[in-house]
Amino acid sequence: MMKILITYDMLRDAYTELTKRYDVCFPDGRDFTYNEILERIPDYDVLCPMFDFPVDKQVIDHAANLKLIANYAVGYNNIDVAYALERGITVTNTPEPVIAPTANLALGLMIDLARRITECDRKLRTEKTSMKIGVMENLGAQITGRTLGILGMGRIGKALCRRAGACGMNVIYHNRRPLDVEEETKLNVIYVPFNKLLEESDFLSLNAPFTSETYHIIDEKAFSLMKPSAFLINTARGPLIDEYALVNALKNNHICGAGLDVFEFGDYPLPDLLELENVVLTPHIGTQTLDVRLDMIHAVCNNVIGFIENDRSISRVIKP
Ligand code: GLV
Repeated sequence: MMKILITYDMLRDAYTELTKRYDVCFPDGRDFTYNEILERIPDYDVLCPMFDFPVDKQVIDHAANLKLIANYAVGYNNIDVAYALERGITVTNTPEPVIAPTANLALGLMIDLARRITECDRKLRTEKTSMKIGVMENLGAQITGRTLGILGMGRIGKALCRRAGACGMNVIYHNRRPLDVEEETKLNVIYVPFNKLLEESDFLSLNAPFTSETYHIIDEKAFSLMKPSAFLINTARGPLIDEYALVNALKNNHICGAGLDVFEFGDYPLPDLLELENVVLTPHIGTQTLDVRLDMIHAVCNNVIGFIENDRSISRVIKP
């Protein structure tokens, strides 16, 4: 019987598709540590990691029987994919359920920043009746008619593009490869070089995967090209932004604000970001609804079953 090792403790009952077919090992009451996985992995055929669990060379070298790494995420920067593929191990991810909730959160952060929703809420609570209220106070920024720049025009970028269109925004984008003309026409988007994206965006949303090419793609130089009135949104991965450079850019008014669901150094933002009013922060909640959690579990199960039984299509990662 195939042996499946799951690194995280979450909604175990939703894995019946796997548990009725295979020998599945879950951690109990907490996630497995890295060392616990190293100890167990030699016996297992399939590893199901969470997006923050590092499946590096060491794990792969210990995994004598491993055939499949079924990641719980669309992003797979936690996995040394090149090494896994070289060792003949298949890698899968869960793109479909992640698209809408992530695009929704990016739009939410954009509107929140522009209209200062969280900031006003915070002030009403802390300053109470001393908060300045009046028709010329708490002025926000317009979204309708403004330009959204999308960096990374994959499935999430396109979903955000459609939402932005519904809000009356103009959308430009940059991607490793431009879309074909029919798709650009359908989405009503214009491809621009990276520097132009920085220069022209009123809102810049990062929707690209974290790779060696996108590491610190938004750095001090990038901030110097952005409009002082621009807002930066990141629902992708923290290390796309040089977070120290972001703090500087915000403090020196090189940009107007930032909405971040992910941070460069793990689960928490740099403390300086907590002090800034023009920053909206969420703790990697892009896919954090119960429905989406369950949909992602079903996507992981489908990938595992489809790989083993060859009875359905799977979402295979084909290159690092
Ligand atoms: C979440 O961050 C994902 O990559 O699915």
